Amino acid sequence: GFPEYVKIVEVGPRDGLQNEKVIVPTDIKIEFINQLSQTGLSVIEVTSFVSSRWIPQMADHTEVMKGIHQYPGIRYPVLTPNLQGFHRAVAAGATEVSVFGAASESFSKKNINCSIEESMKRFEEVVKCARHMNIPARGYVSCALGCPYEGSITLQKVTEVSKRLYGMGCYEISLGDTIGVGTPGSMKKMLESVMKEIPPRALAVHCHDTYGQALANILTALQMGINVVDSAVSGLGGCPYAKGASGNVATEDLIYMLNGLGVNTGVNLYKVMEAGDFICKAVNKTTNSKVAQASFNA
Ligand code: HMG
Ligand code: MG
Repeated sequence: GFPEYVKIVEVGPRDGLQNEKVIVPTDIKIEFINQLSQTGLSVIEVTSFVSSRWIPQMADHTEVMKGIHQYPGIRYPVLTPNLQGFHRAVAAGATEVSVFGAASESFSKKNINCSIEESMKRFEEVVKCARHMNIPARGYVSCALGCPYEGSITLQKVTEVSKRLYGMGCYEISLGDTIGVGTPGSMKKMLESVMKEIPPRALAVHCHDTYGQALANILTALQMGINVVDSAVSGLGGCPYAKGASGNVATEDLIYMLNGLGVNTGVNLYKVMEAGDFICKAVNKTTNSKVAQASFNA
């Protein structure tokens, strides 16, 4: 069976725009996020408080955070790799943060310039500080179904890193198929392993669609009791430190599938398509969403 309700975590403004060659003007980002706030989405990941030398696309994090309208009932998490990023995020008005680790040692070094062990120490500091301030913290595990540098990653490693993040107080663990290599088979095995340590209600899946498997992988996760799914409007996205990683599953396509299954999301597909059209025009791209393509051609 499927869950009655699925919470969609919209990561387009962050995962999507971090990977665009053009740096999107701050006022366009703000307008994009404000449009997304009117679609029924309950979680919108806004930006990253990372180094602008590493990710120039997110250099305007403070202006974006301060500029958006924060609607009641909607959560606006931001990525924070360390205490420095955390304090800047809070100063800019963030009330929810995400730490982002990896199940691959090589990816951790390339992406955040430290070992998994060192990253866990940093995240512990961030999550501890967040708890003191009543700020919920989410935890990402990248390379959960494969790594751009190491290839396959053991179930033990994915499970161990997930457990560590959950144990330190992350309320939800988002399992990232960073380079979109997973299949329903590997997704099922990975979730079976992680679910021995973490209840499904505290898990999310974050699927990139590089190999065209994202919706199938998500469907598998839903059947296993997961009811939180990350996606990006228009299928934007990718990580600059994961070569070959293409976009996230498109929010439009995810909603279309869930609507068809009779699963409630509270999100208006048409309004999401409008926000997708807005951002695609701004970055001069055609949408990666099959549903948006079909609808605009109809
Ligand atoms: P580092 O160079 O090792 O940092 O970078 P450091 O602590 O050695 O400090 C060096 C300089 O960086 C110092 O400045 C610090 O102040 C500054 P200087 O004194 O030289 O002028 N610095 C910072 N500046 C701004 N914000 C900060 C910060 N921390 C230190 N928070 C660091 C380490 C983590 C900062 C860097 O590697 C970084 O910014 N990485 C970001 C990588 C990233 O954002 N990747 C994309 C997101 S992850 C993803 O996309 C995957 C995901 O979607 C899930 C999936 O798909 O699997 C989440
Ligand atoms: Mg991602």
